[in-house]
Amino acid sequence: MKKSIIISILILIVAASTTLNSCYISQKVAAKSGAQLWSENCARCHNAPSPGEFNNDNWEIAGMHMQVRANITQTDVNKIIDFLKAANN
Ligand code: HEC
Repeated sequence: MKKSIIISILILIVAASTTLNSCYISQKVAAKSGAQLWSENCARCHNAPSPGEFNNDNWEIAGMHMQVRANITQTDVNKIIDFLKAANN
């Protein structure tokens, strides 16, 4: 009886630490900058296009197009577009 209580507590601790750890990782992903996301995602299928390749209006359109191709979130593509536009000035 005592043993099973101790085992349950241990399982709970392991489960809690795993859950907390996975939250920590997703926070790290959420904190990624546009430049980081651009280098990680936009060179997977072709060379990552440099900011000067398109003007700011066209980056909006290419961003929408590539969000679908790369299967990334709206937040991430917005960060990438903001990075490409800011580096374009
Ligand atoms: C899953 C593969 C894939 C990923 C990831 C990807 N692209 Fe593309 N990209 C393509 C393909 C394929 C084309 C050629 C046009 C087409 O067939 O859709 C293309 C074309 C483009 C073009 C040419 C203009 C256009 O809209 O067609 C630009 C600019 C571009 N990609 C930028 C990006 C950026 C920025 C990212 C990162 C967010 C990215 N790509 C990620 C596959 C990808």
